[in-house]
Amino acid sequence: MKDVMYRRRSIRRYTGEPVSREQIEEILEAGLLAPTGRNLYPWQFVVVDDREALQELGRSKAGGSAFLADAALAIVVVADEEVTDVWVEDASIAATFMMLQAQSLGLGNCWVQSRLRFADKDGTLSSETVVRRALGIPENLRVDCILSIGHPGEDRPAKTPDDLQWDKVHLNQFGRTWKGED
Ligand SMILES: Cc1cc2nc3c(=O)[nH]c(=O)nc-3n(C[C@H](O)[C@H](O)[C@H](O)COP(=O)(O)O)c2cc1C
Repeated sequence: MKDVMYRRRSIRRYTGEPVSREQIEEILEAGLLAPTGRNLYPWQFVVVDDREALQELGRSKAGGSAFLADAALAIVVVADEEVTDVWVEDASIAATFMMLQAQSLGLGNCWVQSRLRFADKDGTLSSETVVRRALGIPENLRVDCILSIGHPGEDRPAKTPDDLQWDKVHLNQFGRTWKGED
């Protein structure tokens, strides 16, 4: 698990090689295994492998989503905000589980933010609206994020223990760091 987490980097370039149905199901399994507040399971996942739909998702943000057009697939994480007030947390945990499973299969992946983001520079067309229209997602479901997934077409260095920000960890009193002189 730790090795997978050190190796996980956001990968935004893909080779074009397809991802097998078995691998996609392993990723989905990880999402379906994620815990949810009060066990309410507000989320649903939309798997997208249609090239035109992927291109449309690539236009869902003014910046930082274009690479979806070249991904082998995307998994759109949506949730019903009427079911629970912690739908964002629930959806984000499920997305994170799927990212780590994708990484453990050697697949590149990257989170694309939809919630609170816009498709245009002046902020009139929400990313959520673009995603909803592209995939026929009902109005009652909110779009948290999109995971782009594919065989990595770029090599990014794994993190190392030196990258870890231990100064963000406190012991008993805020400001009293877990590591380092105090
Ligand atoms: C909540 C969240 C939103 C993100 N949104 C985007 C995004 O819209 N587009 C993008 O290219 N990367 C996005 N990322 C990826 C981050 O830019 C990336 O995780 C960060 O720069 C650290 O790099 P690493 O993932 O390689 O460790 C997002 C990551 C998180 C956790």
